[in-house]
Amino acid sequence: MDASQKVLIGVIGGSGLYHLDNLTVVEQVNPETPWGHPSSPITIAKLPSGTLLAFLARHGLGHTIQPSAVPSRANIAALKSLGVRAIVAFSAVGSLREEIAPGDFVLPTQIIDRTKGVRPSSFFEGTTIVAHASFGDPFSGKLVKWLEEMVGKALSGKGVSLHTDKCIVCMEGPQFSTRAESLMYRAWGGDLINMSVLPEAKLAREAELSYALIATATDYDSWRPHSDVVTAAAVFKTLTTNADTSRHVTATILDDLHAAAEDGSILTEEAGSMKFSIMPRTQ
Ligand code: ADE
Repeated sequence: MDASQKVLIGVIGGSGLYHLDNLTVVEQVNPETPWGHPSSPITIAKLPSGTLLAFLARHGLGHTIQPSAVPSRANIAALKSLGVRAIVAFSAVGSLREEIAPGDFVLPTQIIDRTKGVRPSSFFEGTTIVAHASFGDPFSGKLVKWLEEMVGKALSGKGVSLHTDKCIVCMEGPQFSTRAESLMYRAWGGDLINMSVLPEAKLAREAELSYALIATATDYDSWRPHSDVVTAAAVFKTLTTNADTSRHVTATILDDLHAAAEDGSILTEEAGSMKFSIMPRTQ
């Protein structure tokens, strides 16, 4: 097969981002995985250059799936089954830092997990295989570095700041945090907060896929003294603008990203990383 006909890049859209621009839809697929169907049918689409990509709406096309109920195992397994090797995921996030304003874009490099125990977070859960994936650096370092440069270029002149090397707290929703929790997350070193990066990032690692998050800030959460706490209305207000900017970013970077996946330059860390992760059985 011609390399441009491979589907190497998967894009996961978060709240507000239910489609991408400038694409010709080739087909919609809804693969059944051992963990069920993905959140939405996956759109296989062509960029104007002919490059193919896969797009999946994390919360369903009509935003019907709560963060805690996203079928992340099916989503990651379905993308992998299509041949995807690198995933760029988008997510609306709250900001825990004054300098990260609503409307800003952020590439996090660390995660604090506040979802533990609630969401199925391993492909090995419910099996007799014991496997331990490395997760010290939860995002693909090479992919994040690549995005730093390319998203930075795509945003230049747009009046949107890009922040890098930040820590995101992933919490259990659907309620937002209390002021006390929001302050605690700041004290822990959190810079951003969302409800969706986990278990997605963990599963991508187990599936040996490169994975990075483009976080789009919608609000200041609830930590700011003398400031209103976050409301759904405040989040919705910024979602549309952020989604438009996200579509501009994808339209600008996806051809080059496909090429970087094809030549392997953004993939080397994850491929094969699970090889020695499975505990040998003892009799
Ligand atoms: N998503 C967008 N804003 C958020 C916030 N403040 N907390 C958790 N998830 C969010």
